[in-house]
Amino acid sequence: MRVLTIIPTYNELESLPKTLQRLRTAVPASDVLVVDDNSPDGTGQLADGFAAEDSQVHVLHRKGKEGLGAAYIAGFKWGLDAGYDVLVEMDADGSHQPEQLPQLLEAVEQGADLAMGSRWVPGGSVVNWPLYRQAISRVGSTYARLMLALPIRDVTGGYRAFRRTTLEKLNLDQVDSVGYGFQVDLAWRVAKLGLRIEERPITFVERELGASKMSGNIVVEAMVNVTKWGLAARWNTLAGKLKNKRA
Ligand code: GDD
Ligand code: MN
Repeated sequence: MRVLTIIPTYNELESLPKTLQRLRTAVPASDVLVVDDNSPDGTGQLADGFAAEDSQVHVLHRKGKEGLGAAYIAGFKWGLDAGYDVLVEMDADGSHQPEQLPQLLEAVEQGADLAMGSRWVPGGSVVNWPLYRQAISRVGSTYARLMLALPIRDVTGGYRAFRRTTLEKLNLDQVDSVGYGFQVDLAWRVAKLGLRIEERPITFVERELGASKMSGNIVVEAMVNVTKWGLAARWNTLAGKLKNKRA
């Protein structure tokens, strides 16, 4: 299996070196693609330095900040064109521990179409989050799970391994959600296709350096979208049943 780990970056000058080093040590077989949105702090040039020294590290430079979803979609397309079998999503800030990547890859090897790192399954956890933040994440995840009838516990989680064929089946050009909503959107699209999603416990470590790029707006957007998608799906099911009855 040829694996590409995609790391989106926006102002991750302090965090990226450690993450890259850990990843190259923990899973030396995985190639890496840093997708940088022209970070003002020079993260893109820093990544170029790594790429110059290590032929398994690549950098995709984008013009400006367009959000995590757009960065991942550009990265997926790059990786599909380059022929990788598995494409991994990983944050640059150390929250997704490279040492836990083998568990996700193993799940894909064993047949999962999408393997998700999960904080909210037995064995999963979060380090350095106050209780209220854990509560928000759990409640949000549960709401999305029930609303969309998803078979997963950590719906917004962003540590994932996609089998190539899974991404090929999604219409990536149609995905325009941002932030946390992007992760929910992708999981839902995969679930609707009836593909196999597996969760593996991870220890999510809150970043120590740099700042989060997510805002309150992004949380609200995700909730509104989940509600819209859930209601639309229910409506479609109901309309389908009525139609069958009449026929
Ligand atoms: N290229 C690019 N462009 N990268 C971005 C952008 C952007 O506009 N916005 C964020 N990133 C990068 C960050 O540099 C980091 O590597 C990664 O995306 C995650 O961003 P954070 O700002 O650290 O997000 P978070 O910690 O709040 O969210 C994480 O956990 C969520 C679930 O709790 C992410 O993994 C989310 O995807 C996940 O939903
Ligand atoms: Mn983070």
